[in-house]
Amino acid sequence: MQKLWGGRFAKQTDSSTEDFTASVQFDYRLASYDIQGSIAHARMLKKCEILTEREESLIIEGLNSIHQDIQTNNFSFDPQLEDVHMNIEHALIQRIGEVGKKLHTARSRNDQITLDMRLYLRQELKQIITFTSSFQSAILSIAERNIEIIMPGHTHLQHAEPVLFAHHIMAYFWMFERDRQRFTDCLERINILPLGACALAGTSLPISREYTANLLDFSRITENSIDTVSDRDYILEFLSAASICMMHLSRLSEELILWSTHEYRWVDIDEAFCTGSSIMPQKKNPDICELTRGKTGRVYGNLFSLLTLMKSLPLSYNRDMQEDKEPLFDTVDTLKQCLSIYSRLITSLKINAERMRLSIIGDSSWATEMANYLVRKGIPFRDAHHISGRVVAANLDISAFTLKELKRFSELFEDDIFDVTKPEYGINQKNSSGGTSSEQVKKQIKEARNLFEASCR
Ligand code: ARG
Repeated sequence: MQKLWGGRFAKQTDSSTEDFTASVQFDYRLASYDIQGSIAHARMLKKCEILTEREESLIIEGLNSIHQDIQTNNFSFDPQLEDVHMNIEHALIQRIGEVGKKLHTARSRNDQITLDMRLYLRQELKQIITFTSSFQSAILSIAERNIEIIMPGHTHLQHAEPVLFAHHIMAYFWMFERDRQRFTDCLERINILPLGACALAGTSLPISREYTANLLDFSRITENSIDTVSDRDYILEFLSAASICMMHLSRLSEELILWSTHEYRWVDIDEAFCTGSSIMPQKKNPDICELTRGKTGRVYGNLFSLLTLMKSLPLSYNRDMQEDKEPLFDTVDTLKQCLSIYSRLITSLKINAERMRLSIIGDSSWATEMANYLVRKGIPFRDAHHISGRVVAANLDISAFTLKELKRFSELFEDDIFDVTKPEYGINQKNSSGGTSSEQVKKQIKEARNLFEASCR
């Protein structure tokens, strides 16, 4: 087959070279963006009088008919034509003849590929932002529905102080809020038109990049043609934002796996989101959580592939950069899949309030409130901490003491110490902004709802 770039070659390309260099087996996913970009390019060429009106409309009709065939699975991509760009351009020339050869005027695959990637990622990212919002919405609802449930809060995975479950789960809302902000921020640097950089140096033909930018809804054009074809920062930014988001999903997964063990029994993951064992009849495994935790590794891997791929590349375009696609596509697919299944899993999650409450009994997580009690009676915190520590050393369970026994540790203890050390008391006393009192948690949920509804509008 005569290559579109075949002029300077006397020999046929070896079939192993074709196999080795082809990318169409994965970059076919960019086809509709490639066509969208080409249509805008053709319109710009006409506007700048590089194409006639007739040429423009023939090219656009041709591209539209190719698009239609791709959509209806009536188009076959040929690896001998290397990549998505050549497949479409070749088909265009076959369909509309000589005039099809004019489309690639003032364009290179180097600016074309980064245009396609920007269009693809812009579209996908909008969806990812929507998925993140839905997931946040599921978290908000579960917090609202379980507002009074008490659980032991942990540090070092040891019981620390009692907190409201809604407070704990809302921590995830804010983590995913930062993710959503990072994704939105990424969009800004994705939404810049690279086309017109051509191979690396721009073009001597009278094009208008601003016109193309306008047609494709980009907010502006890139400033430096060499940077434009060398740059994959916008993909790296997305991959790192995606990695952070997956890390958040993975931490939540870890907690749900733990909380659904027989030892905890704090939550019940709906059967619809669990799988069984081929040998042990009783099993109901949290596979979605485990797989999400596992997939986090591959998303990190994708980020590291691209960082490593880019680190030694001289400017400007290098073919190495073709290797950016699979890590990006895989990350987009994985993240979308995890976010959307997690929204459903969280919505159907059952919380076992009884078990959470039970696990606080006799756990000495009242100790900080005991120290604060003494502080309110004028004891310096360090001394109060020491006294409370001595009480804990004598017995972890506050109900084991009489007032008389407690008075041996400090004369300042009165009968009300037994109320003060109840989990409910400690929780409702923690009324500092952002704290775990039910007033503060309700306020936080309300703020989250307002902020969230305003940003989704
Ligand atoms: N398939 C290539 C890529 O993904 C497109 C650009 C090819 N440019 C070139 N000069 N060979 O990066």
